[in-house]
Amino acid sequence: MSETKTKETTYKPTSPNSKLDFASLWEYSEAPESSANLEIKDKYDLFIGGKFVKPSKDRYFKSINPSSNEEVTQFAEATQKDVDKAVKAARKAFKGEWSDLNPSSRGKYIYRIARMLQERAREFAIAESIDGGKPIRESRDVDIPLAAAYFFYYAGWADKLEYAFPGKKPEALGVCGQIIPWNFPLLMLAWKIAPALACGNTVVLKPAETTSLTAMMFAELVKDAGLPDGVVNIVTGAGQTGAEIVNHKDIDKIAFTGSTNVGKIIQKSLAGTDKKYTLELGGKGALILFEDAPIDQAVEGIINAIYFNQGHVCCAGSRLLVQENIADKVIMKLKDRLETLIVGDPLDKNTDIGAINSKEQFDRVNSYLELGVEEGAEVYQSKCSVPENGYFIRPTLFTNVSQSNRVVQEEIFGPVLTVQSFRTADEAIEKANNTPFGLAGGVWTDKGSKIFKVGSALRSGVVWANTYNKFDPTSPFGGYKESGVGREGGLHGLSAYLNLK
Ligand code: NAI
Ligand code: MG
Repeated sequence: MSETKTKETTYKPTSPNSKLDFASLWEYSEAPESSANLEIKDKYDLFIGGKFVKPSKDRYFKSINPSSNEEVTQFAEATQKDVDKAVKAARKAFKGEWSDLNPSSRGKYIYRIARMLQERAREFAIAESIDGGKPIRESRDVDIPLAAAYFFYYAGWADKLEYAFPGKKPEALGVCGQIIPWNFPLLMLAWKIAPALACGNTVVLKPAETTSLTAMMFAELVKDAGLPDGVVNIVTGAGQTGAEIVNHKDIDKIAFTGSTNVGKIIQKSLAGTDKKYTLELGGKGALILFEDAPIDQAVEGIINAIYFNQGHVCCAGSRLLVQENIADKVIMKLKDRLETLIVGDPLDKNTDIGAINSKEQFDRVNSYLELGVEEGAEVYQSKCSVPENGYFIRPTLFTNVSQSNRVVQEEIFGPVLTVQSFRTADEAIEKANNTPFGLAGGVWTDKGSKIFKVGSALRSGVVWANTYNKFDPTSPFGGYKESGVGREGGLHGLSAYLNLK
């Protein structure tokens, strides 16, 4: 193992593209956040081999702010040639430096990234809300702090891999291709990059085309952190760029999070190759609410389960199964609560539900709203006003639905909850498991024995009890059935980036 030391810190406490005064703690101000606090470039090049480089075809595409429909910036479109360049840079860094680096030095770099994310948290949060439409309260309190937490967590493992897998000889895989979605842009980047680097791999990551801003800001951070060139490469582009990564011959592992459809395409392309892969796909999580649960607390949990991040959450609890004798009461309470949710400007700290991520997703969710009506569902939407420009959808409930309805079976990925009732625990379990997915679920009851019984019977990767959407770097996350292959997070997430001999 070489004795290479981590380079001296080259970063300053605040980043060059920030005009923010960090002394003024934003928690204390009611004023909306503003893009005036950020210097967003007119366009961003690709980040390859530690440098920002022009795309080979000199083509750029627009990213819009979905709450105003205004252009935020432009990103480079990476072609096969650019992806190849990025993979070569990653291979060179893997062989030349990163995989041989003293593991504790690797850890130091990852800790440094985590700390810098904390320092720049406010900029990242504002950027995330502008480019993707999510409420600032969520980017501020969930996305960005959690992204830093994943880097902190995996930094700690970098020099302890042999303890993590006793009796095995953990070895890095090599170059990892990573493709992420638009619902948690920086957080999904952290889920992918942190464990890969801790294990000694190098990466080529592609953010989603509607939300690449925080990934490019992350590239700037990586550069400022002095990470060896080529350890992290970020290429922007749409599905075609993703496919170039998947099909590149010199990539050792593909990690993908996104739709089940694209997951299936990727799985087909990888069949017969020796690439390892993990796929984190869609979901249709069930929320099972028993009559003995504390109802008001459960209603809050349900609101969080489905309306958090506009419902753009793979593990969203999008199907409520409520015990028959309390169903009317719960539906009434849910309707009342919907009326209090504020839909609007993502940068306003009072906003509960921001903008739908893109026009495409807006159209998709609206087509499900129409479909629900065609299928005979009763629709309830809150009556709040929404901004005229941009893509907003009021929180919605579908009652009078049946198990075979498409709105019950398919992932809507928007602020839409279906409500069904059940009589017995067995019926609830049967309904909960009866979709093609198996990513997450929730149970509300006062009885520990019921939590155990139902939790064990649900065919889903995560089951929360009397709470929902709680994430922690130490716990594994992943799905059954069409929800995916492999686990991310915790030790499971490490093993996905290692050969264990
Ligand atoms: P998508 O699966 O097309 O996009 C996810 C990522 O995959 C993006 O970075 C995209 O550029 C990339 N990609 C697209 N085609 C590819 C290909 N052939 N090879 C490699 N990479 C490719 O998801 P989309 O179309 O944006 O959303 C459609 C639906 O998918 C949503 O309505 C939702 O139901 C589901 N979805 C689920 C997510 C989850 O976290 N489980 C995340 C995003 C979408
Ligand atoms: Mg955008």
